[in-house]
Amino acid sequence: MKYLPLLAVVAIFALGRSNGLAAAEAPYQFMTPGSEIDRRAAALVREMTLAEKIGQMTQVDCNALLNREEITKYFLGSVVSGGSSDPQAGNTARDWADHYDAHQQPALLTRLKIPMLYGVDAVHGHNNVIGATIFPHNIGLGATRDPALVEAMGRVVAREIAATGVDWTFAPGVIVARDERWGRTYESFAEEPALVGELGAAFVRGLQMPSLADPTAILACAKHFLGDGGTTGGVDQGDTRMEEPELRRVFLAPYLPAIRAGVGSIMVSYSSWNGLKMHGHRYLLTDVLKHEHGFRGFLVSDWAAIDQLPGDFKSDIATSINAGLDMVMIPNGPHGKPSGKPNTYVEFITYLKELVQAGRVPLARIDDAVERILRVKLEMGLFEHPFTDRSLLSEVGRPAHRELARRAVRESLVLLKNENRTLPLAKTAHRLVLAGNGADDLGRQCGGWTISWQGKPGKVTEGGTTILEAFRQSVGPNCEITCSADASAAKGADAVVVVLAEDPYAEGKGDRHDLALPPGQLAVLRNAKASGAPVVLVLLSGRPLILDAALGLADAVVAAWLPGTEGRGLTDVLLGDHAPTGKLSFSWPRSMAQIPVNVGDATYDPLFPFGFGLTYGQIRK
Ligand code: GLC
Repeated sequence: MKYLPLLAVVAIFALGRSNGLAAAEAPYQFMTPGSEIDRRAAALVREMTLAEKIGQMTQVDCNALLNREEITKYFLGSVVSGGSSDPQAGNTARDWADHYDAHQQPALLTRLKIPMLYGVDAVHGHNNVIGATIFPHNIGLGATRDPALVEAMGRVVAREIAATGVDWTFAPGVIVARDERWGRTYESFAEEPALVGELGAAFVRGLQMPSLADPTAILACAKHFLGDGGTTGGVDQGDTRMEEPELRRVFLAPYLPAIRAGVGSIMVSYSSWNGLKMHGHRYLLTDVLKHEHGFRGFLVSDWAAIDQLPGDFKSDIATSINAGLDMVMIPNGPHGKPSGKPNTYVEFITYLKELVQAGRVPLARIDDAVERILRVKLEMGLFEHPFTDRSLLSEVGRPAHRELARRAVRESLVLLKNENRTLPLAKTAHRLVLAGNGADDLGRQCGGWTISWQGKPGKVTEGGTTILEAFRQSVGPNCEITCSADASAAKGADAVVVVLAEDPYAEGKGDRHDLALPPGQLAVLRNAKASGAPVVLVLLSGRPLILDAALGLADAVVAAWLPGTEGRGLTDVLLGDHAPTGKLSFSWPRSMAQIPVNVGDATYDPLFPFGFGLTYGQIRK
């Protein structure tokens, strides 16, 4: 039916109708936008060649492309920017909008003009982009217990993403982190599945809006399915060993609210369940997720994750696609970065075509995968509106968004100790001293997945406020704020605020065997204590840390997690404009020997339990 002249198509319909026959399915080109999505998707698949179908299932990192013409040549369905894959031109919102449009253009030069989806890890704001609003990471959002806030955050993050053209974020992490030694604990809302499910669904609603057709709706991606946070020892990409009932109770349960919220994509986990890699797990990916729970979106792999399957690349492809994977994320290119690695997108396309032609991957599986992908693209209105709406560029980092992030910071803070009503501090104090490696460091406030994959200390972006800057902006005119990195110049101060931070990390690079405060950081606390002034310890961390002696050295202790760019959210609470309301979403262990320790354990005696959090007796101006 390809390219039938319009008249012929009308004739076929008329003939069909007049003879009482069911109208033949119109060829895709002649179905108008707004036709029932499933029919349009099915009609389009019927038009497609095998090469075009396989191209839709292929997602390539922008830096791995030999050139952008490859998008046309291989009919690529998606391009991804990994945590550090930024536009060559620069990292402003406008650079991203140009970058997005430059990758969409070649997709529309293909025979069927199927637009590509561009995916990024906007996990706590549009965190690749300079000047974007950076929110608290999920561990802080979990402490807010505020789904309405998280949904509002999702809405704001979506507007900032849409401003750059990008269509898709690999968020929310619907992660139940059960062992704080894991470097991805901060990407988890909580150790408790119901809270994870509630906040994950809220984030999906915020990102995707009631309809993905909204011009600022962004495709969400619940991740990483299944059991990523349950690996033995908290080892990243490790093995989650448990019986199926517990796996369903702890790790599957939080996905169900996200599916009910209409999440359009789900990313598969690197990890294994009882020794079997999730990327090859047909029972969980297809039987449980797609059939038992009716997930109608599409499954995307993690970064080069199918390479971890046993066997060679070609068998990895067969195993993962037959297990139910619909789109494969491939960061390796023929001449791109990381260069020189095997298992490139060209090999993927070649091998998958051979596998289908050899009958090792059924064409029906390919068609199912492509229909899932196309349904999402059609729902998003991508065919009708494939390019960036640049009228949205002013959304990135706008004051109203930063105010919401500031509120999220406030609500995320958990007051663990407050002896002698040390907090709130008085704005009319004579002198306050800030100390510690996190006192004046935006990069440490934001943590990993900020501007670069791993994040880094220092001034990583524009528009943020460090804690020191926030104090200077908040106290009265007669209050002197000084910064003494090691707290050695604190004598005589009204109080010393010691901000101790983990250095930024992401994924397995954050796996730790020891979560005790480094000796150098304890020394700062000892100096502060020796000054004789009240000591407030603020922790900037991706997880509970082992406090030990630190708890006795501080008069007040606040868990601030990884709050992001809006440091004023901390001073709003520390200086008493708002009382702390945060509640722990992770049990706080006494020692490494206690880890893993999770609410509901048979023996449960953490330093601070799940749900713990103090507030102020009264707010003192
Ligand atoms: C990473 C992470 C995943 C992320 C993906 C793309 O390895 O596991 O969370 O979405 O690659 O950056």
